This record gives sequence, structure tokens and C-alpha cells, in this order.
Amino acid sequence: MCGIVGIISTRPVAPLIVDALKRLEYRGYDSAGVATLDGGKLGRRRAEGKLGNLEQRLSDEPLAGTIGIGHTRWATHGAPVEVNAHPHFSEEVAVVHNGIIENFRELRRELEAKGFTFSSQTDTEVIAHLVASHIKDGLAPQEAALAAIKLLRGAFALAVLFGGHDDLIVAARQGPPLAIGHGEDEMYLGSDAVALAPFTNKITYLEDGDFTVLTKTSYQILDLDGNKLERRQQISGGSAMLADKGNHRHFMLKEIYEQPEVIGHTLGHYLSFNNLQVNLPESGGLDFAKIDRINMTACGTAYYAGLTSKYWFEGLARLPVDIDIASEFRYREAPLSKDGLSLFISQSGETADTLAGLKYCEEQGQHLAAVVNVRESTIARASHSVFPTLAGPEIGVASTKAFTCQLSTLASLAVAAGVQRGHIDREREKQLVRDLSEAPRYANEVLHLEDTIAKLAHRLANKQHVLYLGRDTNFPLAMEGALKLKELSYIHAEGYAAGELKHGPIALVDENMPIVVIAPHDRIFEKTVSNMQEVAARGGQIILITDPKGAEAVGMDEAEIIVMPEMPEIITPIIYALPIQMLAYHTAVHMGTDVDQPRNLAKSVTVE
Ligand code: F6R
Repeated sequence: MCGIVGIISTRPVAPLIVDALKRLEYRGYDSAGVATLDGGKLGRRRAEGKLGNLEQRLSDEPLAGTIGIGHTRWATHGAPVEVNAHPHFSEEVAVVHNGIIENFRELRRELEAKGFTFSSQTDTEVIAHLVASHIKDGLAPQEAALAAIKLLRGAFALAVLFGGHDDLIVAARQGPPLAIGHGEDEMYLGSDAVALAPFTNKITYLEDGDFTVLTKTSYQILDLDGNKLERRQQISGGSAMLADKGNHRHFMLKEIYEQPEVIGHTLGHYLSFNNLQVNLPESGGLDFAKIDRINMTACGTAYYAGLTSKYWFEGLARLPVDIDIASEFRYREAPLSKDGLSLFISQSGETADTLAGLKYCEEQGQHLAAVVNVRESTIARASHSVFPTLAGPEIGVASTKAFTCQLSTLASLAVAAGVQRGHIDREREKQLVRDLSEAPRYANEVLHLEDTIAKLAHRLANKQHVLYLGRDTNFPLAMEGALKLKELSYIHAEGYAAGELKHGPIALVDENMPIVVIAPHDRIFEKTVSNMQEVAARGGQIILITDPKGAEAVGMDEAEIIVMPEMPEIITPIIYALPIQMLAYHTAVHMGTDVDQPRNLAKSVTVE
């Protein structure tokens, strides 16, 4: 949700800033811009659309200067057009910003009354004018920025550049992440350490309420009253390599194909395949036997992973789970059990709503645990117990491998909880570990279904609506399938618990409605098939994802069947996720949408 960069150097910075922005494009790709100081004078280039357009603009009209700031945008206030692209200027001040300024309307009115003219619809422009107004009132740049920041309400990570000051960037964090990178006679600022990886791995993460003053050779971190703060410098593990698609047409497809490997890595982190045991490294002293309830919070795909694991924790460990969408949880003042565990699931570890939920649980004195893919993220750093998913960087905006790695981690945690709470004996533990260890092999086998699925995807392309149905752990997967289809192909899709169909949604079913049914031949297979037959009776076009026993039992002529291998029940939501992902992927490819960067989306949602 917007990425920001700042660099002070002795060499030209515009190309360096663009390089860093490439690593932040996952945060937004509506427009991008760079501002530098050349001989003390501010200059900028901005371009609508993807970063490639800005690169082209810079190659047509290069920007000199050894100090600069840059931005890649996900629009909040104002359309994604060039005038709204950052950096925003006011006289001798340039600002880039990630977040939302909630009181921007009143600030804008006050500034307009003072004679400032606005050239964009953004909330960010008020920051530039506010700083400029304090400079006009006689404050030095650093003081002017601090005074302006104190007036802002909302969430921000921002950086400010001042005309005439070619060795000074000031920045602040209140919500969205921001990191300082330390180089040799160079200083950097970035929304994450990965953006700075080509330049340095020496990183200092700013915390909420931090204000920083950077020069080429020095940095200071202060609170908003100007008191000095100490923040630890650390070595980041972020890779300087820019991920590439390999031989795949899209990152998403590459990431789908990486799943056998990354599921294996993730499970290997939690399971010992030699003695068939679960281990919980980095559990931070967590003992599931002492927990009476888990309170889970997440958004989107991560929420569906959590919802799946509710079935596992409750079934295997008899441990009750309350799960909320983070944007709802953060404001509903949920009473939490004093012996409860608060668990947050997030690929990026930066999702604003999930982070707000974590802060609420922290205030309530809960033990905080996180299932995260980015180890250095804010959510990971704020948690007592960190359970990493070893998916590697996920570039495709639609989550695939992060989801199946979240499921792999959560299944392992649920088995560990069952063992610690005495509901899983040694023999059952061995069997469950054996079952989970089969997941990479099945994932690999299922990838061979891609051609069949690609053909079926043509049946979904250009439809108006699609329903997904499942029961038990395949109910969250039905919702995940619908989410994948809508975000990639822009087809309206809904996931339902199959048994809920006749309580309303069946009214939608007619011969134009494809229905994807996820139903391995398990203990509730018959129930799901009955729901499917109700759909078939009303002319709905069925795509059934099942195994050979399920296919034989159904024998319906009117259903297209994706035949999965027979597999242990605990891994079905992990493995059945793959055909669901491939179906959405191929539908989108068929329709010609932007698979890796679907419209209106961003990979890291750092505003609420
Ligand atoms: C969908 C998707 C999103 C994310 C959600 C949470 O494909 O990727 O729904 O799952 O925005 O993001 P994280 O996991 O980073 O907290």
C-alpha cells in the first residue's frame, strides 16, 4: 500500500531510487515518482501506471542529484493519475507518504485559507504545505517537519526533502513500516529492508511515533517531543536478487509450482520425519496445555487459512478457536480469556488491521503468536512466539504458496497442541506426521492436472457469477477459491458452506451459473453430494473436485470432474488448494487480465 524510498549519496540517486522502487512495486502500482535535489533545486518526474512508465520518463528526461525520495502508489485519496502521484511539492518541500491522513480535510481548509494552492486530490499534499507553512513561519526544516507531523491524525510513513538542503532527509513513522539503511557515506530509507537490499543489509527499523533525521553520514531517531531514542541496528536477511519468473509466464504460476518444495520446507521446520514427532522451534515458551482458547485474527486469504485451522485445533486438540477478520476484530472490543493465546496470521506481517488487532491483544496482556512469511516484519517483531512459513518471497499479488504454507504451519501447530493437551497419543502423532509428510508428494502429483484444469477454466471465463461449495475444512477453501477467482478474473464469485446453499444462495442457480464443488471422499462426502445434486437439478453447471472414490460414487454425467489422488484427510485443504488456484489462474489468463498485479489490489495492505 504505497512504497517509499529515500537516498542520500555522493552518486546520482534517481536510478538507485527506481531500483529500490522495483522491489516495492508489490505495495502499489497505480503511479510512481521520484524527486531529487540538483544544486539545491527540487526536480521531479512522475508517471501514471506501472513503474516501467516512470523509468521511461526518466530515460527521456533524466533527473540529476545525489539526494532524493521516491514513491510507488496505491491510491487512497484521488484517482491514480499523474497529478496525484507522489512526491508532492509545496514551494521548497517535497513529500512521499504511505498511509492515510484522516484529518486532511480540515488541514486543507486551514491551509487554503492561508493562501496555499492544492494541485492534487491527495491527503499527502497537506503534509507538504503544512511543512512549508512552518518554514514560512521561520522554523528550520527539521523543526518545521516535526511541527507538521504533530498535527497529523491517521497512519503514515513519510519522508521529506527540502530545497537548498542537499544533505538532509527527515522521516517519520506512525503505523506503516519504515526502515533506515546504513551505507558507506550513504544513508537510505525504505518501506522495507528488501527495498534496500541492493545497497545495504544494515537496517534500523523505526517504531510507531519515531521521527528521524538523516544525513549522508549520520542519523538520529527522536520522539515527537524531540527526545533522542535508541533503536537497534540489525543485519537483514533480505536478498538483493530481484525475483524473476524463471520459465513461467507469470509469478503466480511460478509460485503455484513452487508449492511442493516450500510446503516441504515449512513442514520440515515443524516436523521431525525421523522420529515422527512435532517440534515447535521459536515457540517462546508457549504451552498449549495451559491455553484455554485461541483468538485468531487475519485478513483475506490468511483469514481462510486460520478458519481452516479452527477445524484442526478444535478437532485434534479440543482447543476452542474464535476467529475474526482483523478489520472487524480491531473495533469490537472482544473480551479475551486470561489464559488465551492470540494468534495472528499474515504473509507480509505488515497488514494494518491485523497489526491493530495485535496491539489490542497486547494491551489485554495476551500471549501473542504469529504465523508470518516475512520474518523481519512488524507483526513478527511484536510477537512473543513466531511460527514462520517458509514460502520464500511471494510476488504474485494473489496469495498461493503463502496460503498452503500457512496451512502447513497451522496443521503442525494443531497436532502439537493435540499432543501437548493429551488428545493425541504417540501412535496418532506418528500417523499424523506421516500424513503431513506426504503433502509435498501429493502437491507435485496434482500439478500434473494443469492441462485438464486449463481446459475447464474456459467454462468459467466470461461468466458473470460463480459459486464455490465445500464442507468442513473445504468450506474455507471454497471461500478462498472464490476470492482467487474474483481478484484475478474480476468475475463475481462466492464461497459457501455446501449445507447453507438452500438457505438462500440456491436462488441464484440457473443454467448460467457454474458451481465448483470441493468434495474429497471423506466422512461428509455424501452430504456435499446431496447439495450438489440439488444444484444439478436446477441446471447449474458443476465442476467437482474429488478423488477416484468420489468420482465413482457420483457418476454424474452432468458434472465435469477434476480427479485428485486419494490422500490423508488432514492434507486435503492444502492439496485441494492447488486446483483451485490453477482454475482461477487459467480463467484469468483466458480473459487476459493482469494476473500478477490485478487491478485495484496491493500485496501489502498497510492502511485500514
Ligand atoms: C488474496 C490475498 C489477500 C491477503 C490479505 C492479507 O490473494 O493475498 O487477501 O491474504 O491481504 O495479507 P497478509 O497475509 O499479508 O496479512
